[in-house]
Amino acid sequence: MLLPESRRPLLKKLINSSGIIRTIEAHNAISASVVESFHQSERSFNAIWISSLTETTSRGYSDNEYLNMPSRMQTLTEVMSQTSLPIIFDADSGSFNEHLVRTVTQLENQGVSAIVLEDKDGFKVNSLTENDNPQRQISIEAFCEKIKTVCKARRSHDFLMVARIETYTLGGKTADAIKRAQAYAKAGADIIMIHSKENTPDQVKDFAQNYHEKVPLMIVPSTYYKYSEDEALKDGFKIVIYANHLLRAAHKAMIKCAKSILEDGNAENIHSELSSVRDMLNLVK
Ligand code: SPV
Ligand code: MG
Repeated sequence: MLLPESRRPLLKKLINSSGIIRTIEAHNAISASVVESFHQSERSFNAIWISSLTETTSRGYSDNEYLNMPSRMQTLTEVMSQTSLPIIFDADSGSFNEHLVRTVTQLENQGVSAIVLEDKDGFKVNSLTENDNPQRQISIEAFCEKIKTVCKARRSHDFLMVARIETYTLGGKTADAIKRAQAYAKAGADIIMIHSKENTPDQVKDFAQNYHEKVPLMIVPSTYYKYSEDEALKDGFKIVIYANHLLRAAHKAMIKCAKSILEDGNAENIHSELSSVRDMLNLVK
């Protein structure tokens, strides 16, 4: 596996090259090893997203920042042991600025390439929550302080700060999202993530048309899943995150398997759809 100082700059190098940065979540060692298995293929993923949603869900917690950072670092270590890809770490709201400094130090030590902070305030709720979302958005000034805290705490400029804008997921408009993007870029953000939970890419496209900063853009097309990487690149986005797909795929496959065994009283019909025991034994060396 790569040493931290060799892995950390990989994302920055990708940003400076042409093409989309195709990123997918990993929530444990096995999911990371699946991503890694495509590494030498013609089409592969370029980076891994450590998702708060898939990590908390797979471990039996809500995505509300209950799971503490030392515990998340354990998952991160397990994921990183299985892949040499650059890592983008979803750090939710980043907690208190004093905690954030410690988080940045630990992520840098591990060889993580980027930390993502979202401009949420108070009790955190997942951005894709559909109804009665009590989430508040933090003030521009307070979020800029967080950005500056990360930039001051990092020891390497290969470690990137991603400022994530939640204006659209909380019902706001493009003018607010653009105002935030300008302020966040000025405060030192290296990447801007614009999030949306609409079924079409209209909001993020509108954002891109009105965005004139140099800082590259990241999107998470979970709900507007028909939006292609090629189209996203043409519209001005550099990083696309498939933020929850491997966990959702595994969950559906597990339900199918359990159902089949219960209905048949044996594993005959599901057998051919399963990885073999040998596959499992060979998965982790
Ligand atoms: C995550 O994957 O944890 C994210 C993306 O933050 S979302 O679930 O869309 O908020
Ligand atoms: Mg998250």
